[in-house]
Parts: sequence; structure tokens; C-alpha cells
Amino acid sequence: MEKIIVTGNGPLHGEVRVAGAKNAALPIIAASLLSAEPLHISNVPGVRDIDTALKLLTLLGCTMERSGTDLSIDTSHVHSVYAPYELVKTMRGAILLLGPLLARFGEADVSLPGGCAIGSRPVNEHIKGLQALGAEILIEAGYIKAKAQRLRGAHFTFDIPSVTATENLLMAACLAEGTTVLENCALEPEVGDLARLLVAMGAGIQGVGTSTLTIEGVESLRGACHRVPPDRIETGTFLTAAAATRGSVRVLDTNPDFLHHVLGKLEQAGANIELGPDWIHLDTGGKRCRAVHINTAPFPAFPTDMQAQFMALNALAEGSATVVENIFENRFMHVAELQRMGADIELQGHTAIVHGRERLQGAPVMATDLRASACLIIAALAADGDTTIDRVYHLDRGYANIDRKLAELGAIIQRI
Ligand code: EPU
Repeated sequence: MEKIIVTGNGPLHGEVRVAGAKNAALPIIAASLLSAEPLHISNVPGVRDIDTALKLLTLLGCTMERSGTDLSIDTSHVHSVYAPYELVKTMRGAILLLGPLLARFGEADVSLPGGCAIGSRPVNEHIKGLQALGAEILIEAGYIKAKAQRLRGAHFTFDIPSVTATENLLMAACLAEGTTVLENCALEPEVGDLARLLVAMGAGIQGVGTSTLTIEGVESLRGACHRVPPDRIETGTFLTAAAATRGSVRVLDTNPDFLHHVLGKLEQAGANIELGPDWIHLDTGGKRCRAVHINTAPFPAFPTDMQAQFMALNALAEGSATVVENIFENRFMHVAELQRMGADIELQGHTAIVHGRERLQGAPVMATDLRASACLIIAALAADGDTTIDRVYHLDRGYANIDRKLAELGAIIQRI
């Protein structure tokens, strides 16, 4: 199993380009199943979750061509609607196949994803929503078995604004008969991006960017070309790493519009931020950051996917602050690992109280999930000595070449 060894050596400096967003690319890839015509996608990130999604599509009978960050998917010869547990358990985003398979082929047999390191993560909103569109759904031997001659438009209100449930229902409703109104939809930018792709494929969608989406179902959708938007979480991760190491980093090929809350917190921590149309420059002037309070909530508030990285920043900052996780029930697994590096953090339910330390010490630590891995890398960059991070396959699920990119910013980082 691969490990990463980071030798803490002070500030990160320089420029780094971010990849396309994993969480935007996954629903786009799933949406390819809605049309028999090819979908051409550019800026696809080279991360393991995308490889898993493409393996699943191959099992279904799709063919594809991938060259660098360009990907074309042809779904005209799909012969299966079965997504097995072995792949779904490694990538929960696979639940996004449920809506498109059901809508185009009238059935789907998709494994329940099960829990993961950040909580139990139920899929009841996906199931209730598809049932509202007329699907018959059976949960049998760990699989979601869904059937519908043709889905029917309906009025459905999400109890929770789930990102992937909104995406699943939005895709399914595009091929349903009649009008669907979805209320309390997630507002994350990846949902709006998917809606714009679906419109390019011929879907009728009103309310893009709002919490109420109205979808006029059509008989079929056509192929399209689409560029995956920049990864806002990868962007935030590099900026936070720069802040924690008292460095100065310019992130290129990004979109500052999706990061208001994170940028506000970095400024509050004492970093100077400059913005361009597709870049963000963070400069700490060599100074240690101040601890900042964090409260995770759905977009446009502070994202849960940046909570772990800010935990590392606070662990090294001046003063004390609370970090409250409101989205996932168990997203504090990185705390015990940070404590092994000398961090002073108390846990009280969903709240972590972090007392910043001038220095952390390198230690052997274990990555427990994708963003926890990023948190440990940030802590390691600013720690004294060597940190060995085990189970880095979590990191590779969502960050493309992060070790090479950090090395280009001056980090001493190697993979063994
Ligand atoms: N929830 C339910 N029932 C459902 C669906 C969700 O109770 O049917 C709850 C969840 O348990 C959670 C909350 O609703 O408490 C929000 O979860 P959501 O469904 O929005 O999360 P998701 O769609 O499974 C996506 C991202 C996650 C990101 C969350 C929140 C993808 C593929 N995944 O997950 O990304 O944390 O939204 O923004 O888009 C990551 O990239 O590291 C990651 C975990």
C-alpha cells in the first residue's frame, strides 16, 4: 500500500493549476447515460473516483476514449443496468447512475453504497424522489432494484438539500413524462453545472441556480460537449496549505466565485487575498495565521469538504477556535491523527475546540477519508520532521497529482 512521507520545511511558494472538479465530473459522466448520442467532456480530473465511474460505465456496455483530460463516452450499446457493490462501495458517487439508468432504460440495479468513514450516509432522499416520479423500488440483498415503464413528472420536496439526490432527480426528471417540480434542491455549483449540461443536451429546465427546479420532460436527449468546471475544494486545499505554512501561493485555472466563504475565512485568519477572473493569490507575508471559527453548512456557506483542512490550519494558528460539523455525523476522524502530531483539540459532539500550537511534530498517521488525507498533508507540511501518511489511496480518489503539485510549490514530499 502506498504511503506519502512529508518532511516539514516551511512556506509553500509559487503557482499551481487546479484540475476539473471531481464532484462536477461524476454527475456529468452519469448524465452520459441519458442519451444514445456521445458526450464529449473536457477538463476531466485524473483521479481514482473518475476511473471507478468509468469502470462502472464499461461494465454497463459503454465505450469511451480518454486522452489526457478529454473524455468521450458512447452509451449507444448499453446492455446492463447493474452496478455491483465491489465498485459502488469504493465510490459513493456511483449512486448517480440510478436516476439516468432508470429514466432511459426503465430499470436499474444499483448497490446500496453503505456507510463510510464520515457517517452512515443514507440514500432515502434519492429513493423517495424516484418513487414520487413513479418508480417501483425494492431494496433486496443490499441492492436498489428500481423499475418504471416511463417516469412521470411530479412535485417533490427534499427533506434535506442533498447534492447527489438533487442531481439524480434532476437527471431522471429530464426523461420523465410531463413536468417535475423539485423543491429544497441543493445549491452547490456542481448542481447548476449539471443543469447547464442537461439543457445543452436538450432538456427543459427552469430555475437553475435556485432551490426550485422545474423540469419539462422530453422523449430523448442529444449528445453535447461540456467542460468540467474547476475544483473549488482542490483550490481551497492549496490556499489553506499556503496559509498554514505561512506561504504565498497563486492558484490558477480556478473560479473565485465559488469560494466566497472559504476566502472570507482565510482573510479573517490574516491572509491577504487577491482575485483575478480565473486565479486567486494568497499571501501570509510570512506571518502565522489566527484561529477562525468554522460552521459547515450547505452552499453558499462553509463547505464540509473544507472542514478538515481548516482544522489543520487552526491547529497551527494563534489562539483558539471552534469547528462545528453540521453536515456529516462522523467527519472528525482526522482529529485523533492530528493529536498524534501534537495538536491540542477537544471534541464535544459535533464541535471541535482547537487551541493553536506554534509547531506540530511529524508522526506516522493514517488517512481515513479523502479530505482527512488533505488535512494531514497540510499539518505535515508545517510540522517539524517527517510525517508518514498511510492509506493515501483516499487522497488519490479526489486529488490529481497532489504530491507533484506540492513539490512544485517547494514541499519535500515523496511517495513510497
Ligand atoms: N442525506 C440523507 N439522505 C439522503 C441523502 C443525504 O439523510 O438520501 C444527508 C447526508 O447523510 C448528509 C446530508 O444529507 O448528512 C448531505 O449529504 P449530501 O447528500 O448532500 O452528500 P452527497 O451528495 O452524498 C456530495 C459530495 C460530497 C460532499 C457532500 C456535501 C459528491 C459525489 N459528493 O455528497 O463530497 O461532502 O455532497 O457537500 O458530489 C468529497 O468530495 O470529499 C465528498 C464527500
